[in-house]
Amino acid sequence: MILARGLGKRYESTGGGLAPLDLEVNRGQWLTLLGPSGCGKSTFLKLVAGLEAPGEGSVETSVSRAKMSFVFQEPALLSWSTVEENVILPLRLRGMDRKKAFEKAIPWMEKLGILHFRTSHPSQLSGGLKMRVSLARALVTDPELLLLDEPFAALDEPVRIELGLELRDLFLNMKSTILMVTHSITEGLWLGDRVLVFQGRPGKVILDEDLGLGAERPLSLRGDARFLSRVEQCFDLLKGGPA
Ligand SMILES: Nc1ncnc2c1ncn2[C@@H]1O[C@H](COP(=O)(O)OP(=O)(O)O)[C@@H](O)[C@H]1O
Ligand SMILES: [Mg+2]
Repeated sequence: MILARGLGKRYESTGGGLAPLDLEVNRGQWLTLLGPSGCGKSTFLKLVAGLEAPGEGSVETSVSRAKMSFVFQEPALLSWSTVEENVILPLRLRGMDRKKAFEKAIPWMEKLGILHFRTSHPSQLSGGLKMRVSLARALVTDPELLLLDEPFAALDEPVRIELGLELRDLFLNMKSTILMVTHSITEGLWLGDRVLVFQGRPGKVILDEDLGLGAERPLSLRGDARFLSRVEQCFDLLKGGPA
């Protein structure tokens, strides 16, 4: 689904970016991207999405831009529009009429527990609900590739866990591919199928491993001894790195 060959990007003004990287990602995988701030994780996502041009090498994706969705830490909702108007926006931008767009959006609003708030405005919602709207808006187009850049970073732990559980369930039914950046090692390993650890400036991948944790990720997995030793392994790699 994604094939990167010598893919790199160097920002001369800051010395940051991504060192040349070779990477292959199969369809249906959830990749977790860990690493300290400034090591090129967001740059990598933008290169994959075609939002930035590579400085060197290439990246190919078998998915068209219309089948990719991006979710950021900040939900970036239109404040003057209702929840439902926000959710149908990508469909409207693709030329779908309102009635059809709502038909498509309603099951997603239902799945994400925001149907009740469909006529509310974003300012009336909690952070967790805003993220639910943002996720519904990202999923309503049935993306084959979902790029999540620290999506849950601004949320309280219980909300994060709840959304993680729900997103993992949705992922299993959607058969899409996810690349998720997170600063939480536990969250990243709990939800992902494969982990990449970035380090340095420009960033390099220093660990790339399949987690082999199976499809289902109950909350109890986070207390499992084998799981905890993975967390420790990643922590050891990340500690002491540049901030
Ligand atoms: N548009 C840009 N211009 C100059 N430097 C940039 C730009 N974007 C990112 N950088 C530099 O590259 C580094 C890596 O950025 P980024 O990919 O956002 O890191 P991460 O997402 O891992 O925190 C940043 O610390 C910054 O110094
Ligand atoms: Mg970033």
